[in-house]
This record gives sequence, C-alpha cells and structure tokens, in this order.
Amino acid sequence: MSELKKRLSFILESPKHNTEEKLEKVCHLLDQEISYFNWTGFYFKNGDKDELKLGPYVGAETDHIIIPYGKGICGQVAVSNQTFIVPDVHLQDNYLSCSIDTKAEIVVPIFKNGENIGQIDIDSHTIDPFTKEDLELLEWLCNEVSKIL
Ligand code: SME
Repeated sequence: MSELKKRLSFILESPKHNTEEKLEKVCHLLDQEISYFNWTGFYFKNGDKDELKLGPYVGAETDHIIIPYGKGICGQVAVSNQTFIVPDVHLQDNYLSCSIDTKAEIVVPIFKNGENIGQIDIDSHTIDPFTKEDLELLEWLCNEVSKIL
C-alpha cells in the first residue's frame, strides 16, 4: 500500500475524530500531498431529496452548496453512478463553475450498500492533470470512506 493510502487509512480509522472531522482531514491531506488538487471536497445526498449537499472541503468557497441531481458534473455523477473525469471544464456544457481558475475536475461516486450516497469532487487549476494512479487512489478512498458512513 502506498504511503498516502496508509496515511488516509490512519485518519479514517482514528477513534479520536468524528466522521465530519475525518473527512475534513482527508481533504487537507490530499490537498497538501497532490499539488494539482486545488479544491477537494465531499458532497452527499441531502436526505431523501434528489440533490447533493456540500460536506467537508478544502479550497475556495463555493456557491454550490446544494446541487440538484443532473446539474453540473457532480449532479451527473449522482445520476450515472460513474466516475466522471473532465480534462478541460471549458468543453463541458453541463458544468457549474466554482472558480475561474478551475481547468479540470474529477468526481468519484461513493456507494453504501449499493446505493450512490455521495461523492468526492476535485478541481484542478491544471488542464488534464489526473492520472490512472489518481483514479485508482480516489476509487479506493471512496470505498474506504463508505465503510465509516
Ligand atoms: N464544478 C462542479 C460544482 C462543484 S464545485 O466545483 C465545488 C460541477 O460542475 O458539478
């Protein structure tokens, strides 16, 4: 297991912190360790509504606290149940801008008992920055996060 995965596991397994604190620490660690992760946060299904609500995040403040299913990259992932990698956000029609500096985005869904209950969302100020390793790491992370929800 990579050093970063070990550190993420350590945070998620810590008995000293509640879920909210753990997710915030996860965001901080990713933000600190991966230079082109410039906004890192979680969205979760808002009760039984077909909308996402912003959870813990690190990065610039966003207007998108609530995102209806189907809207933007996040809302599309809520419906498609599939990871969405956007190498260049300017080429997307159904995109909600959070910052003018954002050039690329990746959104990975989180499943609990087979249900899509949320996602991790990462914005980058670099065009097409995300690697296969990032994808593998984030899918692993979403699986680990699911275990503590
Ligand atoms: N860009 C996202 C909105 C969330 S912000 O990036 C934090 C989207 O299109 O869904």
